Amino acid sequence: MLSNKLPSNYFSKFFNNLIYKQTTQQTKKFFSEKTEKKNFVLETIQNRRSTRAFKKNQVPKKQIETIINSALLSPSSRNQQPWRAHIVRNEKLLREIGTHIYDELSPQIPRFSERKKKLKVSETVFYDAPTVIFITMDKSRVVTDRSQMDIGIFLGMLINSAQSLKIDSIPIGVILRKQDYIHKKLSFNDNEVLKVALALGYKDPERNIVEKKDFLSEIEWVK
Ligand SMILES: Cc1cc2nc3c(=O)[nH]c(=O)nc-3n(C[C@H](O)[C@H](O)[C@H](O)COP(=O)(O)O)c2cc1C
Repeated sequence: MLSNKLPSNYFSKFFNNLIYKQTTQQTKKFFSEKTEKKNFVLETIQNRRSTRAFKKNQVPKKQIETIINSALLSPSSRNQQPWRAHIVRNEKLLREIGTHIYDELSPQIPRFSERKKKLKVSETVFYDAPTVIFITMDKSRVVTDRSQMDIGIFLGMLINSAQSLKIDSIPIGVILRKQDYIHKKLSFNDNEVLKVALALGYKDPERNIVEKKDFLSEIEWVK
């Protein structure tokens, strides 16, 4: 039988690539606008997908600095720039935090085990990423409720800056369920509140899960 001759990850890789191809085609169709020349910024945004399995290779520190310095130029309500970025590149520490949260949340979150059944996703909420940026909000800089949006914009800028340097990523929000644990572990100031994290690295195509994406085209052209 064919399946006996092929390596076990052959089929998952095949179907994963198929889904990726389909969604990429769908993305291209969705963006029907034809630009005269190649537009690097649009292509960067359109080619991004979240990564759920990273290789061990570390991202160069210089590139992390470039990504953060670019995101620091984000617009913010009343120019308060409420974001703070805590960069963790210590493999042991990331594994400790990532597996602790994974173990604690596993019984409550069925999609953890569903994903694990599909592919060899590691048992850490950071998917083995070698760099994780923890983004906090400085409460003393929150002057309006728009500050929440500032954090979202900052995250988006980080993601797309990373993608432009061919660095894969995934936002990690599930860690907010363990706010206090991370706050203590990473010694945040009392005026900081954790908002999200961004895992960064290089996709491991052998293990990565590409989840199919259907667009919710909630767009209306008001005449
Ligand atoms: C604020 C935020 C938090 C997220 N948290 C998680 C998370 O904890 N774990 C995870 O696997 N994906 C997380 N995601 C990724 C989303 O699941 C993903 O962006 C979505 O399914 C769309 O897929 P795409 O990023 O490939 O386009 C998060 C995304 C955002 C924007």
